[in-house]
Amino acid sequence: MTNRIEERKNDHLEICLKENVQAKRITTGFEELHLVHKALPEINRREIDLSIEVFNHKFSAPLIIESMTGGSPKAARINAVIAEAVEELGLGMGVGSQRAALEDPTAEKTFSIVREKAPNAFIMANLGAPQLVEGYGAKEARRAVEMLDADALTIHLNPLQEAVQPEGETSYEGVLEAIEKIVKGFDVPVIVKETGCGIAAAEAKQLEAIGVAAIDVAGAGGTSWAAVEYHRAKNQMDETRQRLGEAFWDWGIPTVASLIEVTQRVSVPVIASGGVRSGIDVAKALALGAAIVGLAYPVLDPAVHGIEEVKKKLQAIVEELRNTMFLVGADSIRKLKNTPVVVTGKMADWLSIRGFEPQIYARRGLSI
Ligand SMILES: Cc1cc2nc3c(=O)[nH]c(=O)nc-3n(C[C@H](O)[C@H](O)[C@H](O)COP(=O)(O)O)c2cc1C
Repeated sequence: MTNRIEERKNDHLEICLKENVQAKRITTGFEELHLVHKALPEINRREIDLSIEVFNHKFSAPLIIESMTGGSPKAARINAVIAEAVEELGLGMGVGSQRAALEDPTAEKTFSIVREKAPNAFIMANLGAPQLVEGYGAKEARRAVEMLDADALTIHLNPLQEAVQPEGETSYEGVLEAIEKIVKGFDVPVIVKETGCGIAAAEAKQLEAIGVAAIDVAGAGGTSWAAVEYHRAKNQMDETRQRLGEAFWDWGIPTVASLIEVTQRVSVPVIASGGVRSGIDVAKALALGAAIVGLAYPVLDPAVHGIEEVKKKLQAIVEELRNTMFLVGADSIRKLKNTPVVVTGKMADWLSIRGFEPQIYARRGLSI
């Protein structure tokens, strides 16, 4: 069982590193968002403060690396490199699903290396919702957190992935109740995240009602799990699965639509992720109300090449964010969150059809 999990996780890593696993026809919607340029910024770029505090933790910039890996020697190296980079840069990170280590304690080291390399950074443990339905409870959740001395536990929702992968666990009955059992009385914040298909307002409200500490939208427009499974099926010469992967390649709620749906209907902190690819995307997500922003795929390849590559990638994103803040005259993240944003095109259509209010972002600061 465990070896099969390890094999599958390695397949996922190799496919993500070598093949095209990004959305093809659907986009995040960031291209439909426009921050209003300020020709008189009246701030000093050198004095822009990017720091934030979320979950009682101080981050030097509003950026986390999303859950990706663990369970094999290669995964351990990737985790170690990302951990070292986020520790140095004052950011945060999640690990991949810890099921492999719960089923085989010899794999624990591939996750716990993260805390060794990042004694101070914000670290998130990770478990999948299907495992909760199958019987994982507070005991396993606590074990996952202890393994990393984690600051939070992330529970991922991945119905699309489970539905397109051959060994998928497709019972999602009772999943909300199973999450609620963990949330109640748990010692660290419990975050619920998607894995590339986004979360709509209705489900966000259900999650808030059972007491989750934060919601990570992980919307569509970035990494597609249907695409990953398409490549796996192709390698295994399984035509039916290959067709399924192709058909659902671009399934999901675009990240921007999901972010607006969720931030407008719940008051818990919202993490923006799914296809975030630049510091401009990060700034736009914050301006829409995200508490912090996450990205996964863009650091995977750099992590294989070492800590300097990861740092270079993250520093470039931070510099783009700083530039964007300069150009909208925001010298703090608080001010960036109040900067006007115009939502156009298909994102504006989505929101007005669904009854959300894109105008509230556009009219900020208008006194002319
Ligand atoms: C190689 C890889 C492995 C992943 N494994 C997990 C996982 O174990 N648990 C999880 O919650 N999300 C996992 N994800 C999903 C990411 O955390 C993220 O939600 C998704 O990739 C969207 O972000 P992106 O477009 O920036 O990649 C994985 C992503 C990648 C690329």
